[in-house]
Amino acid sequence: MTMLEVKNLRASYGRIPVLHGVDFSVEHGAFIGILGHNGMGKTTLLKTILGQLPASDGEIRLEGRNITRDSAHVRANLGIGYVPQGREIFPRLSVEENLRMGLLRLKGGEAAGRQAFERTLEEFPRLKPLLGRSGGVLSGGEQQILALARSLCGNPKLLMLDEPAEGIQPSIVEEIIEILSGLRDSRSLTLVLVEQKLDFIAALVDSTFVIQRGRITGSIPAGGLADTDVVREFVGFGQS
Ligand SMILES: Nc1ncnc2c1ncn2[C@@H]1O[C@H](COP(=O)(O)OP(=O)(O)OP(=O)(O)O)[C@@H](O)[C@H]1O
Ligand SMILES: [Mg+2]
Repeated sequence: MTMLEVKNLRASYGRIPVLHGVDFSVEHGAFIGILGHNGMGKTTLLKTILGQLPASDGEIRLEGRNITRDSAHVRANLGIGYVPQGREIFPRLSVEENLRMGLLRLKGGEAAGRQAFERTLEEFPRLKPLLGRSGGVLSGGEQQILALARSLCGNPKLLMLDEPAEGIQPSIVEEIIEILSGLRDSRSLTLVLVEQKLDFIAALVDSTFVIQRGRITGSIPAGGLADTDVVREFVGFGQS
């Protein structure tokens, strides 16, 4: 079954169009990448799927339901989770309070909240000793892990990550890769990963869409990211 279907999606900031008819779909349980240079519209695409930016044309479907005109709040409640570029954790709140913010969307009352919180802590053991610390004093890598854990507290079906490896040291990138690979089976998660780091994207995804100037211009199968000629053909560069 298809988790996400995006058809002829267009969006603008004021009168400046940024998405010029984006088409792609993501099957249930798939991990897909979106690769593109700075300014090509990757964040704009995620924000339009989330409902933070209105679509000016086209259609977004989540498990067959047309969500194009639904509010961001409704879409989140339908199971779209998001970790924004730059992480955006709450620096003055403790790690535990940050995680609890992620529980707010859960249905099922306190018991469901406790269960989701505990499950997430098991998946992110590194956060356990940090629960009482302010989010703002964590390292960049720890903040990224916190942001990821916070979004998972809401039990998303579809998780969208915007450049999670940006500015993160290699050991934490490895850790994030391991965690996400594990979640694929344990949570039957579907993942849309926006990245510019080829190694990171290659370690996780089944296939990658290339975005250029607000359009999807190609798709690279799993394994193709290691083939620099294939990558060069699509994006015009060969390394991460
Ligand atoms: N709030 C905004 N108002 C006006 N223009 C914007 C706004 N946000 C982004 N843009 C423009 O839209 C285009 C696409 O931006 P977007 O942030 O989607 O790119 P991106 O692919 O995510 O880039 P990066 O890799 O640098 O994060 C750029 O030309 C950018 O300048
Ligand atoms: Mg961006």
